[in-house]
Amino acid sequence: MNISIKTPGDSSVESRYVILPQHANHYGTAFGGVIMSWIDLVAVMVAQRHCGREAVTASIDRIAFITPIHIGDHVILKACVNYVGTTSMEIGVQVTKENPYTGEQTRATTAYLTFVALDQHKIPTKIPELRLTSDNETRRYNNAKLRVQLRRDMLQKLSQPEGRQR
Ligand SMILES: CC(C)(COP(=O)(O)OP(=O)(O)OC[C@H]1O[C@@H](n2cnc3c(N)ncnc32)[C@H](O)[C@@H]1OP(=O)(O)O)[C@@H](O)C(=O)NCCC(=O)NCCS
Repeated sequence: MNISIKTPGDSSVESRYVILPQHANHYGTAFGGVIMSWIDLVAVMVAQRHCGREAVTASIDRIAFITPIHIGDHVILKACVNYVGTTSMEIGVQVTKENPYTGEQTRATTAYLTFVALDQHKIPTKIPELRLTSDNETRRYNNAKLRVQLRRDMLQKLSQPEGRQR
């Protein structure tokens, strides 16, 4: 089905995991890389649902882990499209840890990922536009727009020959 405009709610994904010993280091806290793989996984599901085709991770912004997550904690990941360009989209992922016995929740990190939709020849291809339906979605869109510009500036700098970088 080819839909030319979608809302963030049309593709949002929420997922929950429990930290088991195989996800943790010898201090009993979660490996950052495990959490990062879960972030990538929920984000790609959102991207696929928004664009209705194959999507690849083009970049992941810096991730700061602001609280340790322990064995036995639940990890809740909420992901949605913040912004769409022509072929790329920014997906935001909020990661919260929850003590399953008390229900106490603490924000662990927020991540921003850029995915690019590919056609059958693996060429970037146009994706559905985004219809914003709430003030919160508009706030996320406007913040994401600033990050998109920063990423473009950074990519441009990185693509310049070394001697020409300032
Ligand atoms: C992502 C990829 C398809 C982009 O291909 P490309 O030929 O550079 O594409 P373009 O220059 O036409 O850019 C396409 C879009 O992606 C965006 N983009 C490209 N590289 C990006 C990056 N590193 N970060 C953020 N956005 C990026 C561009 O701004 C553009 O957005 P727009 O169409 O919405 O304006 C290509 O770099 C690729 O295949 N990378 C490997 C992806 C992968 O394997 N990921 C798995 C993890 S290793």
